Amino acid sequence: MCERFDPKRFGGDWYGTPNRGYSDMVGRAVDRQWNPWNDGVLKLDVDFEFEQCGIMPQEWFPDLRTRSALALSEADRLRLGNEIVCWLLSGILHGEQAALLTCSHLCGRQTDPALQEVLAIQVREEARHVAAFSRYLTARFGRTHAAGDAFGRFLRELVDTDSPVKKIIGISIIIEGFAMGAFANLQLHTRDPALRQLLKLIQKDEAAHHQFGIVWLDQQLRNKSVRGRSELRSWVARAFAALLVNLVSVRQRRAAYDRAGLDWRPFSKEVRHARTRTDWPMGLEDDINPLTVLANVLDRRGLLGKRERLALSQWLELGRETRRRRRLRSAH
Ligand SMILES: [Fe+2]
Ligand SMILES: [Fe+2]
Repeated sequence: MCERFDPKRFGGDWYGTPNRGYSDMVGRAVDRQWNPWNDGVLKLDVDFEFEQCGIMPQEWFPDLRTRSALALSEADRLRLGNEIVCWLLSGILHGEQAALLTCSHLCGRQTDPALQEVLAIQVREEARHVAAFSRYLTARFGRTHAAGDAFGRFLRELVDTDSPVKKIIGISIIIEGFAMGAFANLQLHTRDPALRQLLKLIQKDEAAHHQFGIVWLDQQLRNKSVRGRSELRSWVARAFAALLVNLVSVRQRRAAYDRAGLDWRPFSKEVRHARTRTDWPMGLEDDINPLTVLANVLDRRGLLGKRERLALSQWLELGRETRRRRRLRSAH
């Protein structure tokens, strides 16, 4: 978003009436402060040999369930698994940086002082997420990967667009909706106590950001024309597709294979083939699937039309099935 000088900015009519919903959010943010640089809060120096046992269990990776992976030595499988985790967490780090940039662009353009403060708080919180993930990646790997092609394109679009609606939906609903599922999944399965702790700290902030996005969106969509809504829904479906490709495509994470000294192509073929037999793109079966979480968030928020609901029906159906299974389990 290009910043333009607004002559009204220092005039008497710039500052609007604060919305009570936003001023309450400012109060709640005080209780979730934490310092990512404090070793007592984010304890990275834990007794955990990630090179020997893997940050995630091997059965978590579709890549490691292939014939090509089973033909590797145990050490090579561990190396590839950890390298894929490094790539995935680097993508999350880039998402945090995009959230920081997007919110800082939006913050200076608001006339409601409470909304401006909510966005300034989110900028600060995204900065601490950038700090926390980069500290973790430096401690475990000493480096990060570049964003995958599809995800990187989506993040650049969010940063560059002039549309506040796309910025907020892109960050607070799509990326943070997806992140809630992804963080819960990683936290549940990781063997690394430091990563578990980091995700626990961040999830509280992200839930608040997602909640802000929902409140803001409901207000914005009330004023949107039917045509504007249908364009927005097509854009949302394209954004979902970018996140889907980023998660399931081995080609997108080929940099992790390069680092592990392996050719990604046979793995890609086998993972693609396996996907035709199972609905679960990543993680363990009967699990928290970030795509299912996201598709259901989009549907609940009225961001899917008939056509988009059909395109995402696989994920919406999985969501219904997961909820049904959970209900059955808790009844027993
Ligand atoms: Fe964040
Ligand atoms: Fe966030």
